[in-house]
Amino acid sequence: MKNVEVYVKELGLDYIDLVLMHFPATFPFMTSLCNKDAMQCRRETLKALSELRASGLIRNAGVSNFAMKHLKDLEGIGAPIANNQIQFTPFELEHVMETVAYCAEHNITMTAYSPLGGIMDQDKAMADEVLNQIAAKYDKRVSHIMLRWATQRCFAVIPGTGNLDHMRENLSIFGFELSDDDMQTINELKYRAKGFVHTDVCKSE
Ligand SMILES: NC(=O)c1ccc[n+]([C@@H]2O[C@H](COP(=O)([O-])OP(=O)(O)OC[C@H]3O[C@@H](n4cnc5c(N)ncnc54)[C@H](OP(=O)(O)O)[C@@H]3O)[C@@H](O)[C@H]2O)c1
Repeated sequence: MKNVEVYVKELGLDYIDLVLMHFPATFPFMTSLCNKDAMQCRRETLKALSELRASGLIRNAGVSNFAMKHLKDLEGIGAPIANNQIQFTPFELEHVMETVAYCAEHNITMTAYSPLGGIMDQDKAMADEVLNQIAAKYDKRVSHIMLRWATQRCFAVIPGTGNLDHMRENLSIFGFELSDDDMQTINELKYRAKGFVHTDVCKSE
């Protein structure tokens, strides 16, 4: 709670729109220090963020890297979760789709981080044959197709770049639309997760 007060002050703002709990797991030394397990820490952190929301210091509380099981742990504490920021590309593990469905069902908006594959997988994603075929069909680049696909799956996307041309390109994805058939083709790429690097958040207790 105190940290958020510092962030607001340092940013020179009156409030922050959205604050996320970064990861469902805690460091083992922290859980032993406070004698609480990771689930208790998650629930207490969300409650604290919810109090900040009630106080007006933040407008929304959210989470990041939460799998469905972590979200379920937060049910019943009366603290709304505005957003779940997760790694999301067409190459995710199957359980990610369960999390996506859970979020949609519970009105939790979703943000895709590393939507171009991030540092580990970008080259592999850009080389994918099917994505390249679809990009050629729309006269676009694979990066456009990946970002457009995620937005049509109702995700906000946050591609990382310090390159102005890439920023412009990434903003241009709102000028075209992928057909239902092409969306479906890309949805099925998830079965090709093999070879990609995943933060398997399900392993976090
Ligand atoms: N919540 C979390 O746990 C978490 C974890 C990881 C990342 N994130 C966040 O996610 C955001 C982005 O993730 P990320 O940077 O890991 O992965 P990313 O957006 O998938 O990939 C970034 C890479 O894509 C390149 N790129 C961007 N636009 C491009 C374009 N139009 N054409 C070709 N290359 C392009 C960038 O290079 P150039 O710089 O050369 O454009 C950079 O190398 C960041 O804000 C990061 O903080 C959150």
